[in-house]
Amino acid sequence: MSDRWYEKAVIYCLDVDTFADSNGDGCGDFRGLMGRLDYLSRLGVTCIWLNPIHPTPNRDDGYDVSDFYNVDPRFGNLGDFAELLHQAGNRGIKVIIDLVVNHTSDQHPWFQSARESPDSPYRDWFVWSETAPSDRHQGMVFPGEQATTWTKDRKAGLWYYHRFYKFQPDLNINNPEVREEIKKICSFWLQLGVAGFRMDAVPFIIEQTEPGNPDSPKDLDFLSDLRQHVQWRKGDTVLLAEANVEPAELTKFFSDAGGSSSRIHMLFDFMLNTRLMLALARENPEGIVDALQDTPKLPDGGQWATFLRNHDEVDLSRLTADQRAEVFAKFGPDENMQLYGRGIRRRLATMLGGDRRHLELAYSLQFSLRGTPVLRYGDEIGMGDDLAQDGRNAIRTPMQWSLLPNGGFSTAKPKDLVRPVISGGDYGFEKVNVTLQRHDPQSLLSWFERMIRTLKECPEVGSGTCKHVDVPVPEGVLVHRADDATGTMVFVHNLCNNPGVVDLSSLAEDAEFPNDVLADQEYAEPGALDKLDVAGYGYRWIRLRRQL
Ligand code: NOJ
Repeated sequence: MSDRWYEKAVIYCLDVDTFADSNGDGCGDFRGLMGRLDYLSRLGVTCIWLNPIHPTPNRDDGYDVSDFYNVDPRFGNLGDFAELLHQAGNRGIKVIIDLVVNHTSDQHPWFQSARESPDSPYRDWFVWSETAPSDRHQGMVFPGEQATTWTKDRKAGLWYYHRFYKFQPDLNINNPEVREEIKKICSFWLQLGVAGFRMDAVPFIIEQTEPGNPDSPKDLDFLSDLRQHVQWRKGDTVLLAEANVEPAELTKFFSDAGGSSSRIHMLFDFMLNTRLMLALARENPEGIVDALQDTPKLPDGGQWATFLRNHDEVDLSRLTADQRAEVFAKFGPDENMQLYGRGIRRRLATMLGGDRRHLELAYSLQFSLRGTPVLRYGDEIGMGDDLAQDGRNAIRTPMQWSLLPNGGFSTAKPKDLVRPVISGGDYGFEKVNVTLQRHDPQSLLSWFERMIRTLKECPEVGSGTCKHVDVPVPEGVLVHRADDATGTMVFVHNLCNNPGVVDLSSLAEDAEFPNDVLADQEYAEPGALDKLDVAGYGYRWIRLRRQL
């Protein structure tokens, strides 16, 4: 049986600054988060992924780091962070942090020194060009907010490369000193006790940028090198990469030539994410079936991280223009809901019109499909978004804890909050908050607790295989199964609003004593599996077999 912790984890992603403010200054902090660890523990979370925690000018929500060896003073100090790691560990919760080393902030002392003089020891830590690169109007990640990928620095008299905003100069991965520094950064945080890293922008970290070449070579071997390094420092360290690349490219991020995973352990499953969105919009699971069938087999130890929403826009760039238009029409019809021409800046609850059955269906799918589930803070209570905020900040509003002022997030004056709390309407803290839902066994929060508890009794989900079960089904219904040495689960999900009946009698020989372990409602016993009812937007998790 696999004992790789990340295959059985439930990951919860949060921004410290919008989670819980302990000192009333309007910004969330480590002490505030510490006070909420019991909440996360009860929810069933086993790993917290913290969005960037370092000092930052904060022009990209912390993804513009100005010191990799410290924490943002708004959150507390390194002592508070070490205490957080200890307290989380006491509850069996691991902590991973964002590792943002594709670029620094332009305020980072390395960049400030580099631009100062050709003799600076940091000059070659960044990527320069003497002339204006011909591809400077290509490859922008934030169209509309970012004009180019190269900008002329007046002090240096040179052009510098920035895959993202112009205040985020790219580090030069070709420089061995930069590689060593990245390893040193990892060592530092591992020494403090983090369990691993969510690596930001991995395809760009390994890009060996050549001015004028929009398709510069990539050095994937750096990932092997980094993996060896972190694993030597701490054997069960996990690298979880953000790499939204073509399916054919994916396996290279896990290993060089098959065998077992020797590079990144986990990749966010962007392909499945996009297909899930399409399937939910169409109320038809075909896209998910394709994703389950098309995606390459992972090397041993390689794992997907499965998500519905994260801290960025829903990225629909890998859909065809027609498919994208369909998802926009359903989930983000107003221009104000869309971003960068490819995405939607909304939470799932608002995209699904607050329909509780539809929400349960969506999360039941996410958590039962392949990989390790990643949940964004606030989604467990169905928080909404604030479209009055700029860009991606719409989905980065403070956590809604209670009916207290500012939703219990902070005692500061509303004008001093890091971002306004959503108030009023269907998604305001007055209606959507943890305290109300904690007292209600029928709430979405209570459902999440039950669902995650059940998931923990199904170890084959996550560490086992996940396959589409190809039987005739009513339109809208998806059947998939999870198998490993411990047993077999089968899942029936109805993505549309019409009830259906499914015949799974062909699985009878794998079924010892089939029974529902989680469902949207009480159904008749599965019996011979030949007449399984499933309600509109309904779902059934059926245990077929248990080995040990
Ligand atoms: C990806 C992160 O998810 C996003 O939030 C950030 O803006 C970019 N990388 C740049 O670091």
